[in-house]
Amino acid sequence: MPARVTVDLFMGTSKYPFFAEPIVANRIAIAGATGAVGKLVRQMLESRDFPYDSIKFLASKRSAGSTIEFKGQPHTVELLRPEAFDDIDLVIGSTPDDVAAEFAPWAVQRGAVVVDESGYHRMLDHVPLVVPEVNPDAITGHKGIIASPNCSTTQMVVAMKPIHDAARIKRVVVSTYQATSGAGVKGQADLTDGSRAALEGNRHHYQAFSHPIAFNVIPQIGSHKHDGYTSEELKMLYETQKIFGDESIQVCPTCVRVPVSNCHSESILVETETPISPQQARELFAAAKGITVVDDLEAGEYPMPSNCDDQDDVFVGRIRKDLSCENGLAFWCVSDNLRKGAATNAVQIAELLVSEKYSACGSSS
Ligand SMILES: NC(=O)c1ccc[n+]([C@@H]2O[C@H](COP(=O)([O-])OP(=O)(O)OC[C@H]3O[C@@H](n4cnc5c(N)ncnc54)[C@H](OP(=O)(O)O)[C@@H]3O)[C@@H](O)[C@H]2O)c1
Repeated sequence: MPARVTVDLFMGTSKYPFFAEPIVANRIAIAGATGAVGKLVRQMLESRDFPYDSIKFLASKRSAGSTIEFKGQPHTVELLRPEAFDDIDLVIGSTPDDVAAEFAPWAVQRGAVVVDESGYHRMLDHVPLVVPEVNPDAITGHKGIIASPNCSTTQMVVAMKPIHDAARIKRVVVSTYQATSGAGVKGQADLTDGSRAALEGNRHHYQAFSHPIAFNVIPQIGSHKHDGYTSEELKMLYETQKIFGDESIQVCPTCVRVPVSNCHSESILVETETPISPQQARELFAAAKGITVVDDLEAGEYPMPSNCDDQDDVFVGRIRKDLSCENGLAFWCVSDNLRKGAATNAVQIAELLVSEKYSACGSSS
């Protein structure tokens, strides 16, 4: 049994005990490899030179048998089934929730560790919900499955982190402007095909959305849950509280789908316990890992989907005092939902799992 130690993966002192051994991840499987997120996971593993001996790509029977190019080599997509996880050490999963619920136990029972991007495992007590810039050491309590948060939660908590550390955030009011790629390959196709059809005066049968997304905005993402909130909005509330380990943080979200192909935008108001000026906030954001500040209203410079696409950072701008609240701060936040909102975060978690930092940073306790 590996020794239990207390470590700090990035900075400060961790209070989480964990097993000292990094996992050995020589044999990797990408579940949902043909999807919008899976495609990015493949690109990131290539570009970041993630270490492995063997890799396989899994999807449904729709894609099984097709060929994927990875590091210049052709790979045949295999059917996602229990035996696909024989001899696999690490799985990065980007499948729908119901598929993740089924395959993750197959993989864990065969000894693999699963990094899951679906919503299925996120709120389970025994599953850490991890954003490496915010709560990296939560990873150490894992029991075979580690969850990556909802894309709109991830960019918000990365932006909240430096402000929360400096002045403790009590309350957040957030409105999202979410891209169609957040609904996967079908969502991306709906925007282009639906826009073309609308311009040509034709009807389009939308697959991912229950209303036209071309030339429209839809103030509903996910299903109706309770008290007038949608599933996407409640994810932003509960996931934020879990990641910060603080159920007293209040979050009032409104999630809206907009006709933008990629990158979610968010208008965020935070109320802090102690005052924080816009200039202090700007400096804290600029010093934080994973955040880029673009903030010059006079010059017309701020983050937009068009200047944040295909990048791994979370971008913030329009940083200003919330005039309606004594300790209030308002800002605008944009991030590539397929990257930091999904693939980048999952690959960062995988990198932490195999990293020497996982065992080398602390003292025995
Ligand atoms: N899109 C985002 O911005 C985002 C952000 C954060 C988290 N996520 C989460 O990531 C997951 C994937 O999202 P996505 O946007 O990449 O969706 P997507 O484009 O629809 O891709 C879904 C993937 O899952 C596979 N799949 C579907 N049903 C399957 C089945 N029965 N058996 C095996 N494989 C199956 C698909 O394979 P086929 O090609 O064979 O159909 C495809 O590879 C979802 O849980 C989503 O909530 C997405």
